[in-house]
Amino acid sequence: MRLLVLGGTVFVGHAVAAEGVRRGHEVVCAARGESGQVPDGATLVRVDRDAEDGLAPLTGEFDAVVDVSPLSYPWVARALRTLGERAAHWSFVSTINVYADTATPGQTPATGELVPALTEHADREIMAAAGEDGVALYGGIKVASEQAVREVMGERAFVTRPGLITGAGDRSDRFGYWPARFARGGRVLVPAVDQPIQYLDVLAYASWLVDAGERGLTGTYDAAGPVGPLTELLAGIAEAVGVDVELVGADARQLVAAGVTPWSGPRSLPLWLPDTHHGMPAHDPTPSLAAGLPVRPLADAVADALARERELGLDRERRSGLDPVRELEILADL
Ligand SMILES: NC(=O)c1ccc[n+]([C@@H]2O[C@H](COP(=O)([O-])OP(=O)(O)OC[C@H]3O[C@@H](n4cnc5c(N)ncnc54)[C@H](OP(=O)(O)O)[C@@H]3O)[C@@H](O)[C@H]2O)c1
Repeated sequence: MRLLVLGGTVFVGHAVAAEGVRRGHEVVCAARGESGQVPDGATLVRVDRDAEDGLAPLTGEFDAVVDVSPLSYPWVARALRTLGERAAHWSFVSTINVYADTATPGQTPATGELVPALTEHADREIMAAAGEDGVALYGGIKVASEQAVREVMGERAFVTRPGLITGAGDRSDRFGYWPARFARGGRVLVPAVDQPIQYLDVLAYASWLVDAGERGLTGTYDAAGPVGPLTELLAGIAEAVGVDVELVGADARQLVAAGVTPWSGPRSLPLWLPDTHHGMPAHDPTPSLAAGLPVRPLADAVADALARERELGLDRERRSGLDPVRELEILADL
């Protein structure tokens, strides 16, 4: 098939394009080509989604389109206007942040209430300036984008809402913190909390998105694997890394007192969430698994993430996670 990836130079879009090439499809990636390169075998068509006619260089018909637009309703609406009639199937990469209720486990697209739709454009600077309101802005833009995709593409629309995506190229730096940290060995500070977690490896996600184009799979789904306890996931990552470590648990009160922040960012223990957010990584995966979402074994996801972390350097400055000096100080105070 002829597959168009709106993106394709980084992480999810790159993995989708690579999977399309691996399966023998003709893959066109539309991006500026500034964030990275498209995979070998794919063709880059340079476009600028900020410009009204920026998608004009894209010609012909497509059997499947995958749009990874992260933060812009106008980008999504313009792509649908320009390409919708020339596409047989349209996948939109949304987010679990579309859900208004972050606390209740077991939600599905059929049951979860959404945040209000926002037909706005944002970028990294706007998000940084928005502070805590950034999550609602991100979710709201995705809700409006999803609606536009469904309105224009109707029965040809496949909308998926990922939570935590793991794998090489994850610029949020969250999941990779743990393989990298366990690989350094020694006493490791971990959250001792009763928290659920679910993840989706980028290769499994890419495979599902390409499958959807091939099979004509449509509808709206969460994109997250089976739910398990965070403590088990961390123990599983440590086991997969295979270096001797001592896991030293700190509860939420101790972590907050030490100035550790949840989920992501500098000074965080990645993947740890406050009670108010325990519903987010605990969506019911049954509908997605029934629709063919593949689950990649944790050991494989860890191996990929660790290989990438080693390439980047285990001691590098990270976007997410505690720096080693601060971790030692906290461990000493426990
Ligand atoms: N990471 C996670 O755990 C997570 C969780 C939930 C949902 N998601 C969603 O997953 C998706 C991630 O997508 P991704 O990994 O492929 O990365 P991304 O950072 O969202 O990709 C953006 C793509 O757009 C291109 N781009 C940027 N500016 C452009 C412009 N002006 N004109 C044309 N293209 C432009 C970039 O390439 P160039 O810079 O080369 O142009 C890049 O390929 C997003 O939709 C995100 O919301 C991620």
